[in-house]
Amino acid sequence: MPEKTSAPGKIILLGEHAVVYGIPAVAVPLSTLRVTVSWQKLESGDFQIIARDLKNQDITLTPNLDNEQNPLTRIVSSVLAYYNQKLPSVRFEITSDLPIASGLGSGAAVSTALGRAVANSIGEDIPNAILNEMVYNVEKIHHGTPSGIDNTVIVYEQSIKYKKDEPIESLRVHTPFTVLVADTGVTALTHQAVGDVRKLYQANQQRIQSIFNEIDSIVVTAIDYIGRGQIKELGKLMYQNHKLLQKLTVSSPKLDHLVEVALSEGALGAKLSGGGRGGNMIALVEEDMIDTVGNALSSAGATRVFHTDIK
Ligand code: PMV
Repeated sequence: MPEKTSAPGKIILLGEHAVVYGIPAVAVPLSTLRVTVSWQKLESGDFQIIARDLKNQDITLTPNLDNEQNPLTRIVSSVLAYYNQKLPSVRFEITSDLPIASGLGSGAAVSTALGRAVANSIGEDIPNAILNEMVYNVEKIHHGTPSGIDNTVIVYEQSIKYKKDEPIESLRVHTPFTVLVADTGVTALTHQAVGDVRKLYQANQQRIQSIFNEIDSIVVTAIDYIGRGQIKELGKLMYQNHKLLQKLTVSSPKLDHLVEVALSEGALGAKLSGGGRGGNMIALVEEDMIDTVGNALSSAGATRVFHTDIK
């Protein structure tokens, strides 16, 4: 029987991109969509990673783990170095419910689940704080200058207020609410969008900083509303956040279209989520509007729509 580990996906409710510059952001785990890693000891002496859901990657690693730029080998070598262990003879198989490059945290979830599996395969249970640091370093390969929000929400599997270099705060939710997640079907590289925002920032620091400051006050107010159960007001802030993300050039015509469709069909708020330019958008809906708004998003071209409850 293979042993198993897993990690959830995530969505960012508010504050993406600005979070890279020290503004707080809110993220929640998607516990129903997961990356799973099954592992099995081998007699052959080989070390194998089979990752067909991730662009058909079948990797048979050499024992020196010399490819530091491959996220899979990097997390394996980090865990083994931490425990001062050699490469075990194990076959790891990665399966994923998460589309890649879509803002749902696929990269961090793969690193988290694989890191746990490697530790388990050598008889260790890796502490979250250690794993979080390792996954953050792998995120740098994907993203260049990640804020650390993805690895944190995924490793701890907790709804959080995240602010760079500050202790993680759990998000206090007064009244559970529902968010629809709709995929544009367009993949987009986060590091590209993050890089473009950096160029904007360097070219016009004052203007971009004032957008970040507006996002800051939206996030702080939204956290207060979530804590008080003021969900309608939260919806308005999500849309305001989307408008500011447009100014940062990280939206796209399809994201904008899905956001407008969700609002015109009765969502309380909507915005892109994550790196943007493609990937997923989210819409805050009352329970009796889940089907109406969800169907409208599908008809408007979303390739996958599901809902998640935030408690
Ligand atoms: O991984 P994504 O696409 O959800 O984006 C992460 C959020 C950003 O704020 C855009 C980048 C970061 O490192 O925080």
